Amino acid sequence: MLQIVTPIFLATLVASHGHISNIVINGVSYDGWDINSYPYSSDPPVVVAWGTPNTSNGFISPDAYETDDIICHLNATNAKGHAVVAAGDKISLQWTTWPDSHHGPVITYLANCGDSCESVDKTTLKFFKIDGVGLVDDTEVPGTWGDDQLIENNNSWMVEIPPSIAPGNYVMRHELIALHSAGSENGAQNYPQCFNLQITGSGSDAPSGVLGTDLYSATDTGILVNIYASLSTYVVPGPTLYSGAVSISQASSAITATGTPVTGSGSGGASTTGAVTTTATTTSSNGASSTTSATTRASTTTSTTTSRSTTFTTTTSSSGGSASTQSVYGQCGGSGWSGATVCNSQATCTAYNNYYSQCIPTS
Ligand SMILES: *[C@@H]1O[C@H](CO)[C@@H](O)[C@H](O)[C@H]1NC(C)=O
Ligand SMILES: *[C@@H]1O[C@H](CO)[C@@H](O)[C@H](O)[C@H]1NC(C)=O
Ligand SMILES: *[C@@H]1O[C@H](CO)[C@@H](O)[C@H](O)[C@H]1NC(C)=O
Repeated sequence: MLQIVTPIFLATLVASHGHISNIVINGVSYDGWDINSYPYSSDPPVVVAWGTPNTSNGFISPDAYETDDIICHLNATNAKGHAVVAAGDKISLQWTTWPDSHHGPVITYLANCGDSCESVDKTTLKFFKIDGVGLVDDTEVPGTWGDDQLIENNNSWMVEIPPSIAPGNYVMRHELIALHSAGSENGAQNYPQCFNLQITGSGSDAPSGVLGTDLYSATDTGILVNIYASLSTYVVPGPTLYSGAVSISQASSAITATGTPVTGSGSGGASTTGAVTTTATTTSSNGASSTTSATTRASTTTSTTTSRSTTFTTTTSSSGGSASTQSVYGQCGGSGWSGATVCNSQATCTAYNNYYSQCIPTS
């Protein structure tokens, strides 16, 4: 049974807004764009996330849907590096605390960049939708939404790269749309975040997509909508879901290593060469940043070489591996699950369906 407690909040206007602090691919965490420091730096660290010089940590309103700002956030600039991921793998996107009044859909797109997402012109990117979760349950207005599930999932969202997608360089555009004020024109708030990925695999699909500036219109039924009235249906805005998209249950991803963005040609694969730094302790984000700059300098002098530097973290603490109790937000059951089925003292094992049970904090 779905056991989500939905507190009924009125439309409190919360000033704090969110962004993605990091993404996790198979346990390897890559830093996002740090809005609180990078815009103030003349030489911010190389990250896999697109940057914005605008320090407001804000959103894009429907009256800006036809401007470039909707593509990857306000005056966004290309990420200077990318992460490598296999088609069929899952990526966990860690948001900063998301206000629980900000109900709305969680949507993820991909757009093929051609040769390089680090240099692609964002106005040419054509996005196709690989995930979209809108209204999940409307028993109690304003309902349970995709981003309520995100909050339940430690403010993170997991998305699967479709196995059928052709390998190549892609921008992943992940977005929350807050609908708490969307009953009035221009009231919706879009929070897009973009990341550069090099997807490997043997798929061959190249789905058609739409330009960022054509994704939404201010009067879409999923954009101009009063969520405080009972809704019989809610259509997630944007183009229709790609047929190869895979819907998954939400889970979080334990971080076991800190990844350094790949810079250079991005051709990757078996011919990839470059430094691998191994450390035995947890690397601070500052440490990762300095590794990144070193990598960048190295790849400048060998411009045809893809530099791939990953800082592996060896975790030897007793909390990992075959622990007999599962930690908060970890999986604790489901068909095929052979790990711990008992949660630690802070959490209760909650079944979402036959395939997935999760340790949800006991309130
Ligand atoms: C985008 O950049 C331009 C030029 O610097 C600036 O005038 C404008 O205010 C910026 N827009 C936003 C939304 O930050
Ligand atoms: C940042 O964006 C907001 C709109 O969200 C705009 O009002 C503000 O002027 C922008 N700031 C700068 C420095 O461009
Ligand atoms: C929950 O998110 C925080 C970051 O906001 C992270 O430090 C923590 O490891 C996450 N917990 C789990 C179980 O993933």
